Amino acid sequence: MKLKALFPLTLLFFSSLSSVSGEQAPWLDKDYLDERTRQLAPTRTAAPSQWRVIWTKEPSTRATVSWTTGKKGSGHRVRYGVRSSSGPKLTESIVPQRSGAYSSANGEYFHHARLSELSPSTTYDFQIESEGNRSPLMHFTTAPADDRSFRLLFGGDSRTGINARGQVNLLMADLSEKDDELIGFAHGGDYIVSGRNWSQWSTWLSQHELTVAKSGKVLPIIPTRGNHDGGPLYDEIFDTPGGKEKNYFFTRISPEVALVTLNTEISAGGEQRSWLAQTLADLRPEVRWLLAEYHRPAWPAVKSPGAAKKFWVPLFEKYNMDLVVESDGHVIKRTVPIRNEKKDPTGIVYVGEGGLGVPQRSPKTDRWYLQKPGMAGADHHVMRITFAKKSMDYEVVLLDQSKADSMTFLPR
Ligand SMILES: [Fe+2]
Repeated sequence: MKLKALFPLTLLFFSSLSSVSGEQAPWLDKDYLDERTRQLAPTRTAAPSQWRVIWTKEPSTRATVSWTTGKKGSGHRVRYGVRSSSGPKLTESIVPQRSGAYSSANGEYFHHARLSELSPSTTYDFQIESEGNRSPLMHFTTAPADDRSFRLLFGGDSRTGINARGQVNLLMADLSEKDDELIGFAHGGDYIVSGRNWSQWSTWLSQHELTVAKSGKVLPIIPTRGNHDGGPLYDEIFDTPGGKEKNYFFTRISPEVALVTLNTEISAGGEQRSWLAQTLADLRPEVRWLLAEYHRPAWPAVKSPGAAKKFWVPLFEKYNMDLVVESDGHVIKRTVPIRNEKKDPTGIVYVGEGGLGVPQRSPKTDRWYLQKPGMAGADHHVMRITFAKKSMDYEVVLLDQSKADSMTFLPR
């Protein structure tokens, strides 16, 4: 791996490398956030609310449209069709394949409509209907089946700091609105404090509506399970991504890009490790950009290393991962390239560790793997990665849209 450009920054001194926009971000104003929060869809009615689009496997042809109703109801469907300049043509209709009562809720129901046989790199308009009540008209774009460039957002840890979480969501909507190449969002886990608490999930789900851009553009979410997300609600909310009691899978986002999502809340060895070894062996020769994401860090900036270090890091090194995304620490960090527990220009870079609203901690800046050219800091943030033929560009965007860190990776 060659480092084309590095911007190492020191804690508390990275206010702004470059401003993406000269405008004041409206979500920094509490009144604006409150007004947008009041406009979220009411829950506990027969109408749809808490909409989200979920990606797991094959996002070029599949997506799951999911929502909540406050009554069981019977007439649920998603109408959808390819977006056209002459207005919405919702020619297709699908009934949710899976509906049910959320565990420990107050009579709220989940609905999952799994759309398939979609066309790649195509924008679909869709509208959710429950008992004759319709959601706003929204749209999302499927992943490519060719080698065109695109962007994803990454971020984790939204369990507390509810106002800041709303602000980061509005930031994500804004980044999405002005960028047709930005097509999805991978959440690194710890959505809420207690995974068995419906009321906390319900607040998170309603606030997730703030990630929808004003045009109606939705960023499909690729979910990761965090240590605060235990219990059945996670699978009810995200349609059991990667399978029951597994929640690990890989997303072939394009022919040249694969993201492997792992679960640090079950054994990192055994079956999951065997699956990871086989998956990386299969994917590495096929893709230019191979990434992994999971919640508890192997190279933490705050806590001690999770089991990922023992069971997964040797595989990441064997298969030369292009980037590994971690959460859980509530800081901003980018390690030096690591191989065999040492800084090595051929090694693996680990970034993270969660800033979607949760109060930030102080990184332990004396750890060897956070020294220059790595970095560590603390601020609410979202990571944005651009996948292109010649490079993969990593950036950390703060609430005021300034960049806290960036790095360009070249193909291995
Ligand atoms: Fe965590």
